[in-house]
Amino acid sequence: MAFLSHQVCRGFCSSAVRNVVIKQVTIIGGGQMGAGIAQVAAATGHSVTLVDTSDDILKKALKGIEGSLKRVVKKKFADKPEAGEDFLQKTLHNVSTSADPGSAVQGSDLVVEAIVENLKVKQDLFGQLDKAAPAHTIFASNTSSLPISDIASATNRLDRFGGLHFFNPVPMMRLVEVIGTSATSQETFDSLLNFSKNLGKTPVSCKDTPGFIVNRLLVPYMMEALRLHERGHGSKEDIDIAMKLGAGYPMGPFELADYVGLDTLKFIMDGWSAKEPNNPLFAQSELLNKLVSEGKWGKKTGEGFYKSK
Ligand code: NAI
Repeated sequence: MAFLSHQVCRGFCSSAVRNVVIKQVTIIGGGQMGAGIAQVAAATGHSVTLVDTSDDILKKALKGIEGSLKRVVKKKFADKPEAGEDFLQKTLHNVSTSADPGSAVQGSDLVVEAIVENLKVKQDLFGQLDKAAPAHTIFASNTSSLPISDIASATNRLDRFGGLHFFNPVPMMRLVEVIGTSATSQETFDSLLNFSKNLGKTPVSCKDTPGFIVNRLLVPYMMEALRLHERGHGSKEDIDIAMKLGAGYPMGPFELADYVGLDTLKFIMDGWSAKEPNNPLFAQSELLNKLVSEGKWGKKTGEGFYKSK
């Protein structure tokens, strides 16, 4: 991973924002995704402010980032320990933290939100940030399942609002889905694409449709595997083996569902089936609902379809 230099050009004129070159980034939410995004942005030379609700959470997030960076250094700088230490220190130096979102967005070119997957909570946050952030600041949500336009509706910057959907674990996964709503300006969209590339990621362009590209294909695939099992057409073990050995997938659909979290899978399905109740791809699974109600949410609780090893 190398430090990238940025063009020192901010196409900013009095009446409109042109392709904003993103140097200062505020990440809201220091959980799994937010900490990963902060790490990658800092490692590629961006100045990052990571925001969460308390100093304790932020301390934990920073510790996690440092641990993850050390693993990167061990792998990438095995023969050059000094360069590795330099990279580690520079990256950590690029990250500051704040429990005050209003002040954290001052001077920010981009805000990436990665907080809890709840529309009202996201809208409240963005409504507050919209008043505090400079006019040129672009807002982006990392939501997995909520419409970007619904989140953006809490602000008065619909043209400077888009989606940046990262994948878990962020430092490892190369894809970013860049989502434009019907109101997102071309300049904003291009800035988000360029930002993703500057992170060393490969962006793909998506419309603001349920699940964008990856989850729109992956979630119905996992759900059909569940229904196939419920119909008695295959055991979960055989379905997993079949997809690994027959389709070359690294995990079977039940293993993947446990990794993603059955609660998350159900949350996404509930949202989609409420919007399109007659779409058979979004039909509910009794088995999934039962496991979630029993607290068997997959790897995060130690048991889902399988007991975690
Ligand atoms: P998480 O639960 O690990 O982290 C969320 C963080 O946001 C927590 O640290 C929490 O304290 C903080 N938070 C909650 N409300 C806040 C507020 N009002 N202001 C500041 N901080 C606040 O969640 P995770 O997994 O990182 O997910 C975050 C977002 O990313 C969600 O929208 C999720 O759908 C999306 N996402 C998750 C992926 C995953 O695999 N976990 C993959 C891609 C997107």
